[in-house]
Amino acid sequence: MTHHPEQRIHAVREALRKHDHAYYVLDRPDISDAEYDSLMRELRQLEALHPEFADDSSPSKRVGGRPAQAFTKAVHRVPMLSLENAMDSDEFDAWGERLRRFLGIGAPSVMAFHVEPKIDGISMSLLYENGVLVRAATRGDGEVGEDVTMNIRTIRGLPLALRDDESGIPPLLEVRGEVYVTKRDFEAFNARLPEGEPPYANPRNFAGGSVRQLDPTISASRPLRIALYAIPDGRALGVKNQTEVLDRLARLGLPTVADFNRTCVDIEACKSRWTELDATRESLPFEIDGVVIKVDDLAIQEKLGFKSREPRWAIAWKFAAREAVTKLLDIVVYVGRTGVLTPTALLEPVSVGGVTVSNASLHNAEQVARLDLRVGDIVTVARAGDVIPQIVRVAEPAVPRASAFAMPTHCPSCGTAVVRADEEVAVRCPNRSCREQLKAHLRHIAWKDNLDIDGLGDKLISQLVDRALVNSVGDLFKIDVDSLADLDRMGEKSARNVVLSIAAAKTRPLQKWISALGIRHVGAVVAATIADHSRSLSAFRGLTREALLSMPDVGEIVADSVVNWLQDPSNLKLLDTLESSGVSPEPPKVRSDDGPCKGMTAVVTGTLDGLDRKEAEELLRDAGAKVASSVSKATTFLLAGEKAGSKREKADSLGVPVLDLASVQTWLAGGARPF
Ligand code: IVH
Repeated sequence: MTHHPEQRIHAVREALRKHDHAYYVLDRPDISDAEYDSLMRELRQLEALHPEFADDSSPSKRVGGRPAQAFTKAVHRVPMLSLENAMDSDEFDAWGERLRRFLGIGAPSVMAFHVEPKIDGISMSLLYENGVLVRAATRGDGEVGEDVTMNIRTIRGLPLALRDDESGIPPLLEVRGEVYVTKRDFEAFNARLPEGEPPYANPRNFAGGSVRQLDPTISASRPLRIALYAIPDGRALGVKNQTEVLDRLARLGLPTVADFNRTCVDIEACKSRWTELDATRESLPFEIDGVVIKVDDLAIQEKLGFKSREPRWAIAWKFAAREAVTKLLDIVVYVGRTGVLTPTALLEPVSVGGVTVSNASLHNAEQVARLDLRVGDIVTVARAGDVIPQIVRVAEPAVPRASAFAMPTHCPSCGTAVVRADEEVAVRCPNRSCREQLKAHLRHIAWKDNLDIDGLGDKLISQLVDRALVNSVGDLFKIDVDSLADLDRMGEKSARNVVLSIAAAKTRPLQKWISALGIRHVGAVVAATIADHSRSLSAFRGLTREALLSMPDVGEIVADSVVNWLQDPSNLKLLDTLESSGVSPEPPKVRSDDGPCKGMTAVVTGTLDGLDRKEAEELLRDAGAKVASSVSKATTFLLAGEKAGSKREKADSLGVPVLDLASVQTWLAGGARPF
């Protein structure tokens, strides 16, 4: 390791770029998340201390800037066209015929093609100036798109600066490709959504919505990827065919889906590749809706040219939609863990692209109304992502038609009148001791991503609640072997094992516990942040709105939801019960136990030069400080910028040292302690 900061900054940047590439492009992570985070923290610290080595293409600068009011327009240098579709093999043959006639040179069966999966995502144009990403734009109407540079910069698989291959980096390079989300990332993201938030319908809409966020921190929290497949000025770069375009893209360090692309020698070879991809599409990591077949030779492409909005040299040969029709047998309403009522369609089982579907979530009453679904209708079911079945439309209304679905006015489980919060689509049962709600909450707690309670499955949960052995979440942690052993199919040995699993859950990490509490809008990611900043259940209990808002990525909706939860006496009672039953979550690992601010409590106020408040707080935490939101006698020092107001006065009156950013930075870099 070098001690020269500039060299170290370059080395850490390069290492982070390599790890991003390994993780997001090669799908072969080569270090742990913790190691990655620690490198990133080191880089952020070094960059904060040495602003002279700042670089916009640094991996630390992916997320930046303030939320925008609107996207600015981006005029395309070369129009972004769409593709002609072929819906079957005859239409594809007809395209081959047209090529042959247009070129008038022998059969196209002697011409090579480049065959690529048609990734179902959002098309994107990227501009690199002297190797640096300067603009990312959506297709828009093909002539003018939207400038989404801030969001695309957050895609960690995309280099902000090109790699210098032997052929040199062109002064201006435009590349095009598709922004997408893998099926695995899509499902994981949906699974971790807070309850009551309707899941995203399919990876494509999710990718599109993520690209079009005005706040780049939201895009950054989405698992976006990009695959490049075109260089509009390829010929000017001396590239001869599409096969070489893909090679060149990869050599510049740009992500492609090379493993799935093929150069095919003739039309027949294209057909075999289409058949192959159609048969294996389920096992691909991303959604594809067909295959794009391009004339390989760029000179021939040029000869073929364009007809109005489409190139003659390429075609999208689509796959059959994974849809099926079946009968809607019933619409039932389930109660979720926070009381949200979700209508669900019960269907006559039907195979949709090889998977049997017998129910589909309808999310909320609006969805049922929008589709105008009535029991008895024949409906079209489609599968998006890998498995999530959806009703997309009524194929054939029943005669006579059943009456329209209405959301129940009372909870189907406990009969309590349902409530509907303002501005919310969700309808909920407000009864905290509702049995179905409790069962759903217990399933949430036992879930492997939360407290991971082995042996506590759906059937056992139902029995425990129905037999009133567990009447609240707290009861679960007081259960003993004797009461369990009486249950159906439960011997003494399995009863003992369940009790042991429950006991083991008592010391699970705090973040798992916070997530397990089932607070609205608190998913795994937010729970980890809150755990990092509260460190114990009792500190968690005392969190104020202000303290929550000072945490990175915690906004008003989350803060209000947590504060409301903490104000509900039944929740405080739950926390009491948990503590008295020996629940003692493992605190999060301290990030830095030997930093210069170890054991200190710092407060940040005012406008700091070059850092926003949250960044400054991170810097202090990384140096071992605890960061508080208000000045008190317990405060070790106040980091104050311009326009520091009442906090500064309070610090002065209490005799708490007030430091400026420069002196703190010098100190953290190993300089003198400024107080
Ligand atoms: S080439 C002029 N190649 O499909 C050629 N497009 O239906 C323009 N797409 O807008 C596109 N994978 O968003 C091309 N390998 C691929 C593609 C691909 C997906 C999308 C792209 C385009 C749409 C056309």
